[in-house]
Amino acid sequence: MIRTLLTLGFVVLMASGAAAQQAFEVRDVARGRNGMVVTVSRPATEVGVEVLKKGGNAVDAAVAVALAMAVAYPPAGNIGGGGFMMVYPGGGAEPVCIEYRETAPAAATREMFDLKESKLGHKVVGVPGTVRGLALAHQRFGKLPWKELVLPAARLAEEGFGIDAPLAASLNKHLSDEPAARFAEFRRVFAPPGTGDAAAMNGGRNEKASAAKWKAGDRLVQPELAATLRLLADEGPDAFYTGKIADQIAAEMRSGGGLVTKADLAAYHANVRQPIHGTFRGYDVYGPPPPSSGGIALVEMLNILENFDLKKRGPDSPETVHLMIEAMRRAYLDRARHLGDPDFTRIPPHLLTKEYAKRLASHIDPSRAAKSEGLAPEIAIADEGQSTTHFSVIDKEGLAVANTYTLEHSYGSRVVVRGAGFLLNNEMGDFNWKPGHTDRSGNIGTEANVVAPGKRMLSSQTPTIVAKGGRALLVTGSPGGRTIINTTLAVVLNVLEFEMPPEKAVAAPRWHHQWLPDVVKFEGAARKEFAPLLDDLRRRGHTIDAKGEKQGDAHTIYVDPQTGEYVGVADPRISGRAGGF
Ligand code: DON
Repeated sequence: MIRTLLTLGFVVLMASGAAAQQAFEVRDVARGRNGMVVTVSRPATEVGVEVLKKGGNAVDAAVAVALAMAVAYPPAGNIGGGGFMMVYPGGGAEPVCIEYRETAPAAATREMFDLKESKLGHKVVGVPGTVRGLALAHQRFGKLPWKELVLPAARLAEEGFGIDAPLAASLNKHLSDEPAARFAEFRRVFAPPGTGDAAAMNGGRNEKASAAKWKAGDRLVQPELAATLRLLADEGPDAFYTGKIADQIAAEMRSGGGLVTKADLAAYHANVRQPIHGTFRGYDVYGPPPPSSGGIALVEMLNILENFDLKKRGPDSPETVHLMIEAMRRAYLDRARHLGDPDFTRIPPHLLTKEYAKRLASHIDPSRAAKSEGLAPEIAIADEGQSTTHFSVIDKEGLAVANTYTLEHSYGSRVVVRGAGFLLNNEMGDFNWKPGHTDRSGNIGTEANVVAPGKRMLSSQTPTIVAKGGRALLVTGSPGGRTIINTTLAVVLNVLEFEMPPEKAVAAPRWHHQWLPDVVKFEGAARKEFAPLLDDLRRRGHTIDAKGEKQGDAHTIYVDPQTGEYVGVADPRISGRAGGF
């Protein structure tokens, strides 16, 4: 493996009077020709690379990585959640999306949630999809036996692994925040070394912690999870949906007022769905279809932006940023209006047409921000959670996999299934909680995404594959709730429109607008080199959120079209790992 360490530091370009173009420091770029795996987690990347080296294809590696991350990246890696896996086979075969989104249990009702109630705990758990999804991907594309893909994860759980600094910080935060007090099994399973129970840290209250905390290098060992994974290795996915693990989940649900039953688990199925396909300047762009909004919103924004010469304006000129924000505003409005589970909601086909995008583009005032409420005063959007994870894989034959999966919030519902050692999602939080109730503070009540039994909640996950001439060129995606789609848009535009090298495309600053609230989040807004750009945007009528929070982590693979070389870029915003050979 050839590993390049790059320090980009800050690059300042003068564009239209505005200083711009700050990059994060890229620490981890890998190059190879035989395979590439890029994830947020070093042990998971290593598992993926091993699978490729022993002859597994990219789907085998993705399955093994996803299971390894259920051990090695507990905030979002999971077997108790769900997600979307884009598979681009190359060689003229049709790309597919393996959709394994969680589903509302049969006992769910339209108005089961009150806007004020907690988004954590048993009631917010959706029927998990990950294990069925991975098994379906494996059945459809895999080469190696299932068991060989599950055992590395079981071993990681048994033997433990050294955690990195971001995971240590994340565990410490979630073991000592206010909700932690309610989740004893969570505190026990993720207790820092030397304490029987993480509650010993501070009893779940924010008083000065006296006991141990996690630090980088400490080993996280998860014996119950290891046993669960061994069962999955031996018995396959049915152990989870109809066997012992299903019993454990149902018992956990009953004990805490959750709705998921054994019958819900037995009824769960993953779907092979046709991806959303768009084009941008002659490139093919494939993203996940509903119940994710990611593919449609991404393609709608690219279609709008294709009507402007952004390249001439520069990647972070005020004009480009303004046009991107206006495209985001309109696509996110359509998302709120129209998108939900396609088995329950009719998705209007015009959202993906070039004509529709052209019409939207013609309504954008190049010098003035539109008012989101003016575009549709009757609706508003709610907030989403903090943790999801995306990884990218490609093998020697060019089979590419973009996988995003999630528990919704970091550590999901915080409910660990007793005896089974894994976390359950809180994905029910992604539904519109109060039908018909729409307000300016961020709640939305449109029909498309209200709760119904057996329905899948709308997602923003956007695992994306860009291809040219039948070969994958870019594999990307990100966590970040509703920002996911805009993070993906940024990476895609940086490569396709601005021709940035991949490490720069990933490190470049990002911005986010989601229609409502009518505010632009701008990464690094607090840095003074952005002041002229932000002033220009304010003059155009945009409201800027000046907190400057990091936006997403897009672990990306680029295939050099000239040489065929794979370039893996771990997003420097978090400690990811690119592994290639
Ligand atoms: O599916 C979704 O869109 C959300 N549940 C994702 C949540 C998320 O990305 C939180 N991440 N950082």
